[in-house]
Amino acid sequence: MSKSENRKGFTSKLGVILATVGTAVGLGNIWRFPYIVGENGGGAFLIIYFFCLLFLGLPVVLAEFTVGRRAQSNAVDAYKKFSNHPIWSRIGYLGVLAGFLIMGYYAVVVGWTIDYLYEAIVGNLQGHTPEAYTQLFAELSGDTIYPILLVIGVMGLTCYIISQGVQSGIEKVSRFLMPMLFLLMLGLAGYALSLDGAYEGLHFLFYPDFSDVTARTFLDAMGQCFFSLSLGMGCLTTYASYFKKDVNLPKTAVQVISIDTLVAIIAGVIIFPAVFSFGVEPTQGPGLVYVVLPNVFQKMLGGQILAIMFYALLFIAALTSIMSLLEVVTAYVHEKFNLSRTKSAIVVTILVIIMAIFASLSCGAMPELSLFGKNIFDIFDFISATILLPLGGMAISIYAGWIIDNKILYAEFAKNNKYSLNLFKAYAFILKYIAPVCILIVFIGSFI
Ligand code: PFF
Repeated sequence: MSKSENRKGFTSKLGVILATVGTAVGLGNIWRFPYIVGENGGGAFLIIYFFCLLFLGLPVVLAEFTVGRRAQSNAVDAYKKFSNHPIWSRIGYLGVLAGFLIMGYYAVVVGWTIDYLYEAIVGNLQGHTPEAYTQLFAELSGDTIYPILLVIGVMGLTCYIISQGVQSGIEKVSRFLMPMLFLLMLGLAGYALSLDGAYEGLHFLFYPDFSDVTARTFLDAMGQCFFSLSLGMGCLTTYASYFKKDVNLPKTAVQVISIDTLVAIIAGVIIFPAVFSFGVEPTQGPGLVYVVLPNVFQKMLGGQILAIMFYALLFIAALTSIMSLLEVVTAYVHEKFNLSRTKSAIVVTILVIIMAIFASLSCGAMPELSLFGKNIFDIFDFISATILLPLGGMAISIYAGWIIDNKILYAEFAKNNKYSLNLFKAYAFILKYIAPVCILIVFIGSFI
């Protein structure tokens, strides 16, 4: 039996959707999206973000799906299958690098989330002054050993799930956790909308005030689009290599993008009304969900339950995403070096823990771990989300638009559906011209 026949894929279409939404919905939606919207002026950012989804997100998701399902292999080998060009065949390596960098700080944030969940359960998030919450977060993120132990716990759990394989690990966990995530979100959003500040919060989120928009806003929107959709680093290529032939790729892409965006918006609908109801500023950066929200929760009726629900939600979203990050690198090591899945996952996990130790220490215990005024944690985030993912996205769109035979692109697009040829032509045109040029312009513009 050939290697690709040997690979086990997702068992059903529902499994495909839940697992793929599992990778997309993560800290990007609930932790990153609200503070980036806050920093970029609310509604105006949202409009730019929608354009990014339509002209960059959708075509590149489809391109990654195409390469993955067709190649039936890990991301690095997948891009070698359709080209032996010295540059284009190596796009997958960019993904493995980005995956490491993202996991390096993602694991730290998931660790903080576990601590906040624990603190919420034992009632420690109640009854403090606003300054005490700033202090609480500074103490946690600035501690030396504790956040590292949390990282080891997070990565140990993720490693265990990934070592169980695609069906008994990724799919099983996603089938169980994703419905829970949707229920928690709806419960929290319903509550937030009943608050006094709901109108102000929604106004901030949806009213387009373009006065805060700069070239940087476009770069942030593009980075957020790629980060949130797990795009540009071969994650979706890897997942699509586990899709069966009966999956309708364009439909799946639209479903995943819609759910991911809806979840991000609902996260905004939960957070901004709460923030405005209690008179705090939304422009708080990464500390928004760890400093502002606990302060807001404690003032609410049933605040402890709400805090437990919120941090459980954040943890579930983050776990299913970090699973996919580990999967990208593990699948590569497993198939490339003929190492068992478990051993591959363990090796990659150890490397990630080492990176995360540096990221964690740079947040407070060893501030000297910094470059150009940014600590390692922020550098990992900036290089991966803002530079590598959009660059990877540009490379993938050029690869799909110019390098892969158009017949292959069409065959994967048109399988299991009757969408018109014009739709395909528009998609191929965007991949060829629009997406690469837009990414380039935003890049250059923001650096100038
Ligand atoms: N999409 C995830 C989130 O929104 O948190 C983050 C992510 C996962 C990025 C997997 C990239 C990736 F390959």
